Amino acid sequence: MKNIIITGGAGFIGSHVVRLFVNKYPNYKIINLDKLTYAGNLANLKDIEDKPNYKFVRMDICDLDGVLKLMQDEQVDGIIHLAAESHVDRSIKDPFTFAQTNVMGTLSLLQAAKAYWNGEWEGKRFYHISTDEVYGALEMTHPDGIEPPFTTKASSGKHHLAYGEKFFTEDLKYQPHSPYSAAKASSDHFVRAFHDTFGMPTIVTNCSNNYGPYQFPEKLIPLFINNIRHRKPLPVYGKGENVRDWLYVEDHARAIDLIFHEGKIAETYNIGGFNEWKNIDIIKVVINTVDRLLGRKEGEDMDLITYVTDRAGHDMRYAIDSSKLQRELGWEPSLQFEEGIEKTVRWYLDNQEWMDNVTSGDYQKYYDDMYQGR
Ligand code: NAD
Ligand code: TYD
Repeated sequence: MKNIIITGGAGFIGSHVVRLFVNKYPNYKIINLDKLTYAGNLANLKDIEDKPNYKFVRMDICDLDGVLKLMQDEQVDGIIHLAAESHVDRSIKDPFTFAQTNVMGTLSLLQAAKAYWNGEWEGKRFYHISTDEVYGALEMTHPDGIEPPFTTKASSGKHHLAYGEKFFTEDLKYQPHSPYSAAKASSDHFVRAFHDTFGMPTIVTNCSNNYGPYQFPEKLIPLFINNIRHRKPLPVYGKGENVRDWLYVEDHARAIDLIFHEGKIAETYNIGGFNEWKNIDIIKVVINTVDRLLGRKEGEDMDLITYVTDRAGHDMRYAIDSSKLQRELGWEPSLQFEEGIEKTVRWYLDNQEWMDNVTSGDYQKYYDDMYQGR
């Protein structure tokens, strides 16, 4: 029996983690603590909201007293912390909100956990979910001048395509560039500081870009799927040459489950699928897939591609080396990218109502309709 708070459970990745834990561990109590910002959508959890081992609590992670009382009332022994402001473009416009939630909110949670657990760390765990963006940006170069992408071998022994010779490993120093990654980096430091100073049993993981169902359509893949469907322009930043490393969201959720239960205290694990793509190449795959699934001529929507002014400080390349997680805990991504992207596009096209509720703002009424007066 475990009582676990999952923060940010109404968001994209959080909803997949909540669903996995609620379904897989009927003897755990899963408390979804979420403020329901614009990014929180309880409709993401419709299929599990009536399960007896699930509870939703609307709360800001910055509310130290509220979190402490909740931990006492529910006798919480684990926290899986995903709540955050997560969109780089928003962080450029409004860095303060990112510092408030990502830094002060994380510190507030740590303080509440420290006060409630009060030095009795046995069986307790504070697991902080972070991003590969804290490591900064990688170059697209090869020492022998070979043009990327090229085939390379990871330390796990597997071959994969890469756009540069270097990868993000757990021992790399932090060099965040955007206000988003700066705030996440700061929160990672606080989590580690609570282990080093107070002995709190913490774990940090840094994951690459996720894709899959229930992602808010401000992020590249769901935004573009929806725009292609409605034949709206696709705003490609700069030349579309930036490289991201993509992981199917359910594979991330599986990694979180494994690491929460079997990861070593005070360790950091990088999570990624050795799956680097240039933005423009991924966009072409998405256009072809949407066109095919909608019965259009494959590629007929390529002319929606519209090159726009680049994002300020746009990181060139992210590439995760997840060999440590594969080697030490035996985790592997389950899906090939082609399979994952087909599944994802199909999900958004089949769930147009979900998308329409998000783009119209109606999803924000779900809480009032379903939870007020319960
Ligand atoms: P998201 O923006 O989809 O969801 C964030 C959730 O946090 C929302 O439900 C929102 O309501 C909630 N939230 C925001 N501020 C809050 C506050 N002050 N108090 C309580 N709840 C609050 O984010 P996501 O893409 O699911 O990312 C989840 C976590 O994973 C984040 O910590 C992010 O940094 C990390 N991460 C994301 C990716 C990615 O590709 N999306 C990759 C690696 C790591
Ligand atoms: P995004 O999904 O915002 O994730 P992140 O910035 O955390 O990597 O963006 C993924 C990539 O796509 C990134 O290089 C920026 C680019 N991008 C566009 O070209 N156009 C867009 O409209 C968006 C949202 C992103």
